[in-house]
Amino acid sequence: MDYKKHIQIVEDWPVEGVQFKDITPLMNNGKAFKSAVDEIVDFSKQKNIDLVVGPEARGFIIGCPVSYALEVGFAPVRKEGKLPREVIKVDYGLEYGKSVLTIHQDAIKPGQRVLITDDLLATGGTIEATINLVEELGGVVVGCAFLVELSYLNGREKLDGYDVLTLMHYLD
Ligand code: PRP
Ligand code: MG
Repeated sequence: MDYKKHIQIVEDWPVEGVQFKDITPLMNNGKAFKSAVDEIVDFSKQKNIDLVVGPEARGFIIGCPVSYALEVGFAPVRKEGKLPREVIKVDYGLEYGKSVLTIHQDAIKPGQRVLITDDLLATGGTIEATINLVEELGGVVVGCAFLVELSYLNGREKLDGYDVLTLMHYLD
């Protein structure tokens, strides 16, 4: 499927110089969204996944239908101050800004096999922080899946040794 025709590029958003890749038209198209989710499910099927983990907010959009299809649970990674019980935290850098991500400290049992999902891989700061949280709780990251990869921001370099699926690449 040609997913790129469902991605809208928005110039200078949220700040000047950034070409924002808007995935909402893809989500808005039932066939394209299902096909994208199905590809991630196929990538995951032989991996004996126990749990899907996705970072707020767009990681939820991809991760929840995948966890439903795989019949495994979903654990949210959220920005600081959003999860109500005891959490572990990690600081991370973004393409535009800095933040803190958290996960409930009982969200993952040691040894559980985890798939991490997000909409987009840019600098890799978010996925790196999410991997750190999963591994700190003893989870084993057996795959990372994204709709979009911005290759020019070199996020892949942070994913050396991990099994990565991305459905679309932008080279510039
Ligand atoms: C965006 C996107 C990824 C991340 C990718 O999330 O959804 O999670 O940036 O960038 P990186 O590879 O440089 O970390 P954002 O933090 O904008 O928040 P949102 O998902 O809540 O919209
Ligand atoms: Mg995000």
